[in-house]
Amino acid sequence: MNKRQWLENLREKIESLKEKLSIWVDVVRKHIFTGITRRWLINVFGVTLLVVVLIFTVMGAIIQNFYYNNCISTLKASGDYMSKYFERYIYPEYRSISAGLMAMVEDFEDKSIMEMQVASMSGSIAYSSTGFEMDSLYETNDLLQARGGKTAHWIGKYQPSGEQVVSVSMPLYTDDGIQVGTLRMMSSLKAVDRTLMHINWMIVGIGFFIVILTAFTGTYFIKSIVLPVGFINDTALEIAKGNMTARVKFEEKNDEIGRLGQTINTMAEELSQTERLKNEFISSISHELRTPLTAIRGWTETMLAGAENMDGTTKRGVEIIYSETERLSKMVEELLDMSRLQNGSMKLSVEQTDLLAEFEETVFMMCERAKSEDILIEYIPEEADIPALVDKDRVKQVFFNVIDNAIKHSHAGGRIEIAARVEEQRALFIVEDHGEGISAEDLPHIKDMFYKGSSQKRGSGIGLGVSDEIMQLHGGSLEIESTLNVGTVVTISFPIEPEKEEAAD
Ligand SMILES: Nc1ncnc2c1ncn2[C@@H]1O[C@H](COP(=O)(O)OP(=O)(O)OP(=O)(O)O)[C@@H](O)[C@H]1O
Ligand SMILES: [Mg+2]
Repeated sequence: MNKRQWLENLREKIESLKEKLSIWVDVVRKHIFTGITRRWLINVFGVTLLVVVLIFTVMGAIIQNFYYNNCISTLKASGDYMSKYFERYIYPEYRSISAGLMAMVEDFEDKSIMEMQVASMSGSIAYSSTGFEMDSLYETNDLLQARGGKTAHWIGKYQPSGEQVVSVSMPLYTDDGIQVGTLRMMSSLKAVDRTLMHINWMIVGIGFFIVILTAFTGTYFIKSIVLPVGFINDTALEIAKGNMTARVKFEEKNDEIGRLGQTINTMAEELSQTERLKNEFISSISHELRTPLTAIRGWTETMLAGAENMDGTTKRGVEIIYSETERLSKMVEELLDMSRLQNGSMKLSVEQTDLLAEFEETVFMMCERAKSEDILIEYIPEEADIPALVDKDRVKQVFFNVIDNAIKHSHAGGRIEIAARVEEQRALFIVEDHGEGISAEDLPHIKDMFYKGSSQKRGSGIGLGVSDEIMQLHGGSLEIESTLNVGTVVTISFPIEPEKEEAAD
């Protein structure tokens, strides 16, 4: 493999790694850094992490300090003892600095644990407990202070041996109280540092364990809240959309989440009870209205049959009574349809039908009405048949509703374009008007029962709801696209699968 191929390979690998990483970042952003989980991460886990890091850092520092101080006091105690020894016994005996210092290192007993260095004031005479005479004295800060008569300590790298050491220096006095030299006690920090490192690792281990434990218990806790809340949310949404049979299921019933679920279930129960009562009321009132309406319609028809004996105003009045009764009857029928649909008792009586023929019949019927309102319906009749297994009357009801809406919401002098075609095993009937249109806020609710949005036009707001349900019962769909003040396109779509046709035969 040459260098270019190798570079190419490397670039590909980096690209794929980047892709994988971005997928993970997305997952983390969507599922971890959201909602309660995010708050928990920041508020509980973040704070725990911070506290653990803080406590253990401070603890580490305190332990280190303790160990170092221990070393310093041991060195100091030893140094004090040796300087007193020099002052009281050695100097009075030898009366010479050089001989005294040498005798002192010889008498020093703790050579194996610490090093003792003694020197004259200038440092020109210096002895160490490890090997007698020293060529030069490495001057540390504590030593310089000891020359000034103070006892001091120092921690750092002792250059001659390259080791990390702790040293304590103090002045050496004669029995007359004259400072003649310095004494430095020194100990390597190697062993102490090793012990400290072990302790630090232990601290990090314990800290890590606490953090992992918090993460685990937290994840369990979060899961026990986030998942059921998500589930309750989905169920509440289902109920809001009208599915009154949706219920929250949960295992632990005795906590707040359980009680919330129960409340939602009770609410759904109450809602469906109200819904049932409403449907029963609508159904019974519609049935009650039907009988007097039929009588009124029948009698007005009879009166109109003998209209030649009436004067103009009376005839006009009876005509109005007739048309309004018709309208009322239509409304009552719609209400009955709605309650049948809602309690699931609407049955389709399907038969092999020519969809196109039914559609065209409705279009032509509506053309007259459109003309009377100065609206032009543009439709080019199709030659072919569109056979399908449908409930003829219900399908016509859908066509009627949609074209009726288009006429109602068009302006005088307007135009409605209607088309029918077969596309990918579906029969499509499209009604497009250029009228008032529907606002974006109203559009999602337009198929809800009794929803009329901001429309001031006559109608009870049931037409589209019933039509949509009828289309669903047929396995089809009713789609509405609309822009306010531009117009509306309604697409009625039926599946016309070949097996359906065969089944009909
Ligand atoms: N072609 C359209 N252009 C503008 N708005 C429309 C159109 N079709 C429907 N809408 C809006 O949708 C609402 C609901 O229509 P729907 O057919 O369900 O009820 P309706 O026509 O008011 O009454 P009904 O059909 O029961 O007599 C209407 O009130 C109207 O606001
Ligand atoms: Mg309507």
